[in-house]
Amino acid sequence: MLKKLPPSITALLLQSAAVMLMLLAVKATGRYDSPLLFALLCGLLAATFSFLAGLAKWWLAIQLIFAPALVLMLAFKLPPILFLGAFLVLLLVYWSTFRTQVPLYLSSNKVWHALEQLLPIEKTDSSFTFVDLGSGLGGVLTHLASVRSDGRYTGVEAAPLPFFWSWLRIKLSGHLNCRVQWGNLWDCDLSLYDVVFAYLSPVPMEQLWHKAHAEMRPGTMFISSTFTIPDQAHHETVQVNDLHHSTLFIWHM
Ligand SMILES: C[S@@+](CC[C@H](N)C(=O)[O-])C[C@H]1O[C@@H](n2cnc3c(N)ncnc32)[C@H](O)[C@@H]1O
Repeated sequence: MLKKLPPSITALLLQSAAVMLMLLAVKATGRYDSPLLFALLCGLLAATFSFLAGLAKWWLAIQLIFAPALVLMLAFKLPPILFLGAFLVLLLVYWSTFRTQVPLYLSSNKVWHALEQLLPIEKTDSSFTFVDLGSGLGGVLTHLASVRSDGRYTGVEAAPLPFFWSWLRIKLSGHLNCRVQWGNLWDCDLSLYDVVFAYLSPVPMEQLWHKAHAEMRPGTMFISSTFTIPDQAHHETVQVNDLHHSTLFIWHM
């Protein structure tokens, strides 16, 4: 049953189970040494449960340190408004990541340059259209708009703060061939674009392929950074020599 839930909900349930078990153990043995020891044991139990439930590695680390970090933070007696403020900022940046499982992380400058080489050949009498699905802070869009002014660039971004940041970035840079929409990439009509770029996560790739396959016109190009599509052989790859050794996977539709 746990496998059907989003990992964040599974992690929360397992963390709660660990705390309940520890409370039962304290009640049964009558031993309670310190809040930090209690929290450390909760973390250890939660990480073990998460390992057994098959959660990804980074969840094990989060589960391990969550309760001890909570106890340590409470010891600082920080004003509660700080926690509310931090929560609101994280909410505005990560928005529906717990559901989409696509967090914000940014393409490197080297990926921007590699994308430049993949754009359609420059012609004096025509332009091309490019969309970045989940456009983050708008770096890909503004870079391409500045080096290839013959393109028309669109970004779609769901999270409010990255959307606002990229909107402002585009306004301040004065690129008239560039815009960003606040919205869901699944509502975007891909038939409007000559080049579709996505840097998301492994989770939506299969569904995104179905969408691209159904909507994109013949002769257009689908590029995914880092994440390929299960069981869909790509036509080309570009290896980027950046910190993460990013790979661009390319499909000619
Ligand atoms: C890995 S970041 C990539 C940012 C940018 N494209 C880049 O290459 O630097 C993925 C972005 O997709 C956004 N995102 C995730 N799911 C989305 C959805 N369904 N619709 C629109 N944006 C989404 C996230 O908020 C995040 O900003």
